[in-house]
Amino acid sequence: MTLDKSPEKIQTMFNMISEKYDYINNLMSFGMHKLIKKICIRQLNIKPHEKVADLCCGTGDLSFYIKQFCPDAIVTGVDFSHKMLEIAKNKYSDIEFIQADVNTLPFKDSSFDYVVMGFGLRNINTPEKAVEEVYRILKPNGKFLHLDFGEKNLLNKLFDKTVLSLIDLFTNNKFAYKYLIESKKAFLSPSDLIKDFEKKGFKFYKRKDFLLKTISCQIMQK
Ligand SMILES: C[S@@+](CC[C@H](N)C(=O)[O-])C[C@H]1O[C@@H](n2cnc3c(N)ncnc32)[C@H](O)[C@@H]1O
Repeated sequence: MTLDKSPEKIQTMFNMISEKYDYINNLMSFGMHKLIKKICIRQLNIKPHEKVADLCCGTGDLSFYIKQFCPDAIVTGVDFSHKMLEIAKNKYSDIEFIQADVNTLPFKDSSFDYVVMGFGLRNINTPEKAVEEVYRILKPNGKFLHLDFGEKNLLNKLFDKTVLSLIDLFTNNKFAYKYLIESKKAFLSPSDLIKDFEKKGFKFYKRKDFLLKTISCQIMQK
């Protein structure tokens, strides 16, 4: 399978799977993704009135966990799939969600205290540009939390096999979940990601792994 990550293709794919996105996520992770996301957000210790951008926010769960942790934080969720955003807005009507491409963010330089991105960078065909944008919109000393699949170990391969058997039963959009598996295989390991983030000017702050390193969160500081 060749990995076409053109923005049009990715946008269409997420529009198509939006309605079942949360359901399949819960199924694939046995609900664990929620707990992992909550634990990640806790690492940042966000304070009232601090500004947080949730890039590639999808159906808005990370944005919600930020508000749950700190109700007075100012959170903006960003995604380019209008269907994913529609669901985010319906679920969390008191959070601001905007439609934009992460490669060209409509925010001023140094405007956020934190940027979080969960399971997004892997889907972007120009990840270097996206990371430059994250750096640009962060305030000096601001933190970037990146969360995605981690080491390509045995458990990760088992996950792929489970997904392949589940998708036949639960979705008509098999291509999207086959894409998920291929994009995981082609994605950088957490340690290589950290090196790439450092090349863009970030300093390493913290790494937290979950489920025997199958999932990994890296926190970098501007
Ligand atoms: C796998 S979902 C992750 C959603 C959410 N962060 C989560 O953890 O469940 C990836 C999201 O990234 C969005 N996305 C991919 N490339 C993007 C880009 N260049 N600009 C904005 N959003 C993008 C997709 O539309 C999709 O909603």
